[in-house]
Amino acid sequence: MKEILKNNKELKFYIHTFGCQMNENDSERIAGILTAAGAKKSDSPEKSDLIIVNTCAVREKAEEKLSSYLGNLASLKKGKKVYIGVVGCVAQLHQSKLLDKKPFIDFVLGPDNYHQLTHIIHSNFREKFISTDWSQELDESLHKLALRKSNISAYVTIMEGCNNFCSYCIVPFTRGREKFRLKHNIFREVQDLASRGYKEIFLLGQNVNSYKDPKTGEGFSSLLKEINCFNGIEWIRFITSHPKNFSKDTASIMKESEKVCHQLHLPIQSGSSSVLKRMNRGYTREEYLKKITFIRDLMPDISLSTDIIVGFPGETEEEFQETLSLLREIRYTNIFSFRYSPRPLTTASQEKDPVSLEEKRRRLLEVQKLQKNIQIELNKTFIGIVLKVLCSGKSKKDPNIFTGRTDGHQVVNFKSQKNVTYQFVDVQISSCGPYSLFGEAD
Ligand code: 5AD
Ligand code: SF4
Repeated sequence: MKEILKNNKELKFYIHTFGCQMNENDSERIAGILTAAGAKKSDSPEKSDLIIVNTCAVREKAEEKLSSYLGNLASLKKGKKVYIGVVGCVAQLHQSKLLDKKPFIDFVLGPDNYHQLTHIIHSNFREKFISTDWSQELDESLHKLALRKSNISAYVTIMEGCNNFCSYCIVPFTRGREKFRLKHNIFREVQDLASRGYKEIFLLGQNVNSYKDPKTGEGFSSLLKEINCFNGIEWIRFITSHPKNFSKDTASIMKESEKVCHQLHLPIQSGSSSVLKRMNRGYTREEYLKKITFIRDLMPDISLSTDIIVGFPGETEEEFQETLSLLREIRYTNIFSFRYSPRPLTTASQEKDPVSLEEKRRRLLEVQKLQKNIQIELNKTFIGIVLKVLCSGKSKKDPNIFTGRTDGHQVVNFKSQKNVTYQFVDVQISSCGPYSLFGEAD
């Protein structure tokens, strides 16, 4: 850093993020640490002196994309002086092997090691650096620094890690065991966001329902109830919930608290109890359906979404059909569906898998086709209705159109005579597709 400053040159950095909202939030914190150390954010890798790749290991495909992205960076490095850091889940998984295999990488940091960035840039990248230790606690100082992408919606991490060891999932091996933030630190962050004009927050964690304040032991429901009282914040959401931990108490708080959106992401993974057992999910299809009934009785307008894995090792056609029948029964607002991908260290990856790749692909297409038709039917029911939308700005595809999300987290593209960026607007819905609604602001 000193050397760079001596040459009258500021260190410019670029962060490329793969993966989930946890990674997005981590990248915002990484940007904050680098900015506090005197570096400047840049909008392209070509204009940067430091490129950080924040990685995802959840499926093979994410690792393949990373490999090709790193290939491009290796070519970039041939033509210019640039430092490259690989951080996050793949860094934690492969550790020093990454440096051995890809010698153009300058440093490797696991998800608990981002505080090392200050040291790395102050030592002017003198030598290769690797740090993948686990820490027992979350680093509070990093939350304060976050350089957020959005001016209106913010992620607020409440817990990290996972103790569940679903048989297919690599996350417990890359993110470690559950760690919770102190409630008063979460409140301080929410207060700060409210005072800076943020309107919407997403409480984040691998399993938010297992949240417990390390001091008082108070759980997720009371956290939600108290955050509902913060002035300024108007919409509160949370991801991800585990069906086995999602409580009636939380559903009641959602109903009572006017700022908590009637939207719930509750990943089922499979509609078959025998597959769920092999996945080590801790609930049956029937138990899941009972929770959905309870939630819908309390909040008939709840917008539900889920994650589905098809082609889990040994998934029979009958078991797959149970997933299709569950989708027909629940009629989710939207789903995220994946083909099973064997991951290192997981127990499922050691099982025999008679389901061919071709069959897995067919099942995925079938799930997506069914769900698309359900969404078309559901979205049509909004035509003629006025929905409250939080506008995030102009549509990327068409500068004459605004875009935003509803309480149910559905995308709405709309026309407006006024610039309504970062405002709540009432939008009359006039048409729809499977993945978004279209309308005009009142
Ligand atoms: N293969 C396919 N999908 C997976 N997920 C997690 N691990 C795997 C895997 N090995 C999916 C689950 C999870 C989401 C974040 O990613 O559906 O909920
Ligand atoms: Fe992975 Fe299961 Fe933990 Fe979710 S709950 S992160 S799917 S192990």
